[in-house]
Amino acid sequence: MQSLRLLPVARTLRASLPSSVLVTRRIPSSIQEKLQAACELDLEASPLSPEELRERVRGKAGLICVLTDRIDEALLDAAPDLRIVANIAVGYDNIDVRAAAGRGVVVTNTPDVLTEATAELTWALLLSAARRLGEGERVVRRGAWKGWAIDFMLGTELRGKQLGIIGRGRIGRAVAAKAPAFGMTVKFAKEDMSVDELLVSSDVISINTSLRPDTRHLIDRRALMRMKRSAILVNTARGPVVDEEALAWALKERLIAAAALDVYEREPVVQEELLAMENVVLAPHLGSATRETRTAMIDLAVSNVIEVLSGRPPLTPVPATATALRASTRGKEVRKNGAFGSE
Ligand code: DGY
Repeated sequence: MQSLRLLPVARTLRASLPSSVLVTRRIPSSIQEKLQAACELDLEASPLSPEELRERVRGKAGLICVLTDRIDEALLDAAPDLRIVANIAVGYDNIDVRAAAGRGVVVTNTPDVLTEATAELTWALLLSAARRLGEGERVVRRGAWKGWAIDFMLGTELRGKQLGIIGRGRIGRAVAAKAPAFGMTVKFAKEDMSVDELLVSSDVISINTSLRPDTRHLIDRRALMRMKRSAILVNTARGPVVDEEALAWALKERLIAAAALDVYEREPVVQEELLAMENVVLAPHLGSATRETRTAMIDLAVSNVIEVLSGRPPLTPVPATATALRASTRGKEVRKNGAFGSE
């Protein structure tokens, strides 16, 4: 007992922890050191195929992954020692949480730390679509700008317009909080009115909901037909919430005025027709892509792994992981992560 107490903290931790954690992307060295002090690392810098991932996760107690890594039953079966999957993302539709819980594997995500960055990008896209920034930049860059003209590239003003938000989670609320600065009124689907009423009455629709069976293709042909012809659709949540083929059709038929997308149904593939449209702003899934936020997301994922492998409750478990948690933490109190962990 005496000799154990004399051991350096890192070695004491290592002795009491399952040893190995797979990290599927490069992480900042300062955070890597923190993880290394607690366990052995297997670091990968570039994307692994499903087969490679299954191979590498074998024998690991922890997995730190990103939203493009698919964590399914086959992967979980290949890693019977796994105790935690820490997703570096707030959304976790890439993980079969039910299958993980059934195997006693805790799943965590990174809520809160990316809320502001994603809300900021939502506004950047909204403003770009309303003021035709992408289109304007393309004109300037290809040398086609003829100079100032009274009727050139007129956009639409936001003041006095209604912003309809689908998704009442953290990000939706952070988007709403910035609306008064632009003189917009905000309405939330389900809270202030039905989704249908929101579609009919809003000038801008912002999608800020997680991807679930009930939100897949929530914005389909029928929904788009309900929107104002002058409306702008913004999606910074998950691509499959919007039926991209239906969106291209609605834009072609001029059923809505414009769209601004950060996420896509089959990333990184973007629907051909959307690529050719001037009134569509396209960003490459940048919602949480700021230095500050990505560092905080990685740090939170690492902290979750250290907590769980040290026998403590995770900081930000996804809601459906509760069953697994109860088994692994023997009933200790855990911080609740809200009903909409991915918003
Ligand atoms: C998330 O965290 O779910 C974001 O989409 C990542 O950028």
